[in-house]
Amino acid sequence: MRLKDRVAIITGASSGIGAACARLFAREGARVALVARREELLEALLHDIRSEGGEALAIKADVSRPEEVERAVRETVETFGALHILINNAGLSRDNLAVKMSAEEWEEVLRVNLWGTFLFCKAAFRPMRRQRYGKIVNTSSVAIRGNIGQANYAASKAGVVALTRTLALEYARAGIRVNCVAPGIIETAMTEGLPEEMKAEALKRIPLGRLGKPEEVAYLHLFLASPESDYITGQVFVIDGGLTIGI
Ligand SMILES: NC(=O)c1ccc[n+]([C@@H]2O[C@H](COP(=O)([O-])OP(=O)(O)OC[C@H]3O[C@@H](n4cnc5c(N)ncnc54)[C@H](O)[C@@H]3O)[C@@H](O)[C@H]2O)c1
Repeated sequence: MRLKDRVAIITGASSGIGAACARLFAREGARVALVARREELLEALLHDIRSEGGEALAIKADVSRPEEVERAVRETVETFGALHILINNAGLSRDNLAVKMSAEEWEEVLRVNLWGTFLFCKAAFRPMRRQRYGKIVNTSSVAIRGNIGQANYAASKAGVVALTRTLALEYARAGIRVNCVAPGIIETAMTEGLPEEMKAEALKRIPLGRLGKPEEVAYLHLFLASPESDYITGQVFVIDGGLTIGI
């Protein structure tokens, strides 16, 4: 088991990549705190993990609210006695052309994707520093290269890269590694609603000829959360079936 005795927080755990990551980490021996807003989905996942013999805790919290983030970290440490791994996965998109984009669409995406990531990185620092060890994995996207209709999303995810690199410098002496994954197009609720023509067009541009699966991203998270990656910090790992080769 690659994460035996490790304690991990996974945000946005109620669906998609976060849920796949939670299942995988629990199977690899981690005690996982599942953070999300949708209680029923969290409870169902909690039940699944426990019925497979895993240890988990469900925490209802909005990643963009400082007091809820601090409570989530506190509850995790009180329950499991430590915090070694933070997977900042929660995120959303509100697509629109820039000229039509409302202040609300801009603000909500930046608040959840960038501010929420910052808040969790900040709250995790103290418990990780206490043990002089920590692994943080943030979530960017290949959309940072520019994507029509996603000015807010692309800006938020580019911000996550800058945040990752900066915190990697600030946290290194405390033994905390900070890295980032940048998925391409993964089959989750986020991409489910894309028009079929758009998906068909995207498929033509993916050398491996298919969309990614949440479990495949979870395996990258596993590597970045496990001791095998202890000499890596401040890096961005693209997982996109080759989509961005040559762009
Ligand atoms: N699916 C893709 O193609 C793709 C590509 C690049 C990046 N990503 C990123 O991967 C991450 C996971 O997305 P997914 O594809 O699994 O989609 P998803 O919609 O299934 O999962 C996103 C999760 O974040 C949660 N969330 C959203 N706002 C929240 C908030 N304020 N507080 C707490 N939880 C919140 C949602 O409830 C959901 O559980 C996101 O950060 C997304 O931007 C996804």
